[in-house]
Amino acid sequence: MTSTIAELERRREAARMGGGQKRIDAQHAKGRLTARERLAVLLDEGSFEEVDTFVEHNATDFGMAEQKIPGDGVVTGSGTINGRLVYVFAQDFTVFGGSLSERHAQKICKIMDAAMRNGAPVIGLNDSGGARIQEGVASLAGYAEVFQRNVLASGVIPQISLIMGPCAGGAVYSPAMTDFIFMVKDSSYMFVTGPEVVKTVTNEVVTQEELGGAVTHTSKSGVADVAFENDIDALLAAREFVDFLPLSNRMEVPERPSSDPWDRVEESLDTLIPPSANQPYDMHELIRKVADEGDFFELQPNHAGNIIIGFCRVEGRTVGVVANQPMVLAGVLDINSSKKAARFVRFCDAFDIPILTFVDVPGFLPGVGQEHNGIIKHGAKLLFAYAEATVPKITVITRKAYGGAYDVMASKHLRGDLNYAWPTAEIAVMGAKGAVEIIFRKDIGDAEAIAARTAEYEERFANPFVAASMGFIDEVIMPHSTRRRVALGLRKLRNKQLENPWKKHDNIPL
Ligand code: HXC
Repeated sequence: MTSTIAELERRREAARMGGGQKRIDAQHAKGRLTARERLAVLLDEGSFEEVDTFVEHNATDFGMAEQKIPGDGVVTGSGTINGRLVYVFAQDFTVFGGSLSERHAQKICKIMDAAMRNGAPVIGLNDSGGARIQEGVASLAGYAEVFQRNVLASGVIPQISLIMGPCAGGAVYSPAMTDFIFMVKDSSYMFVTGPEVVKTVTNEVVTQEELGGAVTHTSKSGVADVAFENDIDALLAAREFVDFLPLSNRMEVPERPSSDPWDRVEESLDTLIPPSANQPYDMHELIRKVADEGDFFELQPNHAGNIIIGFCRVEGRTVGVVANQPMVLAGVLDINSSKKAARFVRFCDAFDIPILTFVDVPGFLPGVGQEHNGIIKHGAKLLFAYAEATVPKITVITRKAYGGAYDVMASKHLRGDLNYAWPTAEIAVMGAKGAVEIIFRKDIGDAEAIAARTAEYEERFANPFVAASMGFIDEVIMPHSTRRRVALGLRKLRNKQLENPWKKHDNIPL
């Protein structure tokens, strides 16, 4: 007996050593943790239960029969984050560069299947050289098995990817189909093909960081959500983030005690809107003053900053926030901001997370570049996402709600449940200047007439009362009571029931 237990211990220790001390040291020298060290930071202490510790690859070509390492480059299992169940896999770069073999893929699929059956998120810690080159098509098959599961799990359980090393080839497509991607600066990369292939094919010379680093993907491409300074920051943020999410689409949003009074009055909001319509203000201030304890987890803060998305809590329960940001491009809707917010709205709807929308939008961005790159189709994504969403939707128009963008931003007409406006709201087809230049074209040149027409237009439309008189705004509210109104609204909407007509699936303009 003692000897069999000793044998188990010996085998476990061998698995824990992965690719050996030299490769572990190399991983540390790059400022990266090993797969097991990462799981220790991500999960509650002592909660990790590993499975498939002794799985080995089945390849024989290229001398692989002699090189077997227990676990085969990925550590899999389950654990808890603040007491709530999650399934995890962490690729071990010290074993064949974390590359994906057939058996490595089988391990990932096993925990994805368990997560689906048991209703819990999957968190993947990705650090992989892509397909295990020695295995050829068996490795590609393994990837496709993972991809298929990513798709079936989408909208059923939250899927979160942390990119913590190089991720090339197949290693980027699974994360791309998950809900959220966190990256680590100067340490993680995502690209379909690396700089060397790019140079050969297109003659472009580019570094790994420029091509697919954390800053590139969280600012330019929008592929990833948030960039962190190091492994530990990313893992701790993932813990905080998971606390906002329901475990699956069958479970309610998590609720946690909050000592922040639901009816907290914020007098300062009465003066948030500057006296001049062209002066910006920071929409984050409103979000933080409405959120419990001012806590807001922002996603994609450095991409398409003209729209803000993220999670907060009201009365301890998760709320998805979408808000135009007047500080960036005057809060206009363009291609990137439409795509960014549309996907977020769909996530919230899939997981029954109420959506709170703050509106200050001058319209869609005009321009040849926008038109030629498909603003019509991309803007329609956001319109489509809001219109199909059946979760509770509360909208507060703080200032501008012009044109098509008024319709898009969770208006009453798209089944907004509670549509509020501040007294500073301006709801119209366009701003006064543009409107007057079109409808009073003959007066252009006559400064006095134009000024009078502009004043007339402003008097008529630069307020929320025309829309309110038509019932398109449910109530004009005091800015200082926004949190109270939102909290009451969310309370009353908890049992909301609304279903879309049966269909196989819709056809959102992709
Ligand atoms: C097998 C691999 C591997 C791979 C790395 N290794 N990638 N083994 N298959 N794909 C091994 C190396 O041989 C090495 O083994 C160890 O991992 C560490 O790799 P290094 O190159 O020393 O590390 P580093 O310098 O940090 O570079 C990391 C890297 C590079 C950028 C990831 O290894 C690399 O470019 N790898 C190949 C990437 C690639 O082309 N993958 C296939 C993509 S095609 P030793 O024994 O020396 O420690 C693909 C198709 C799927 O994925 C498509 C599905 C849609």
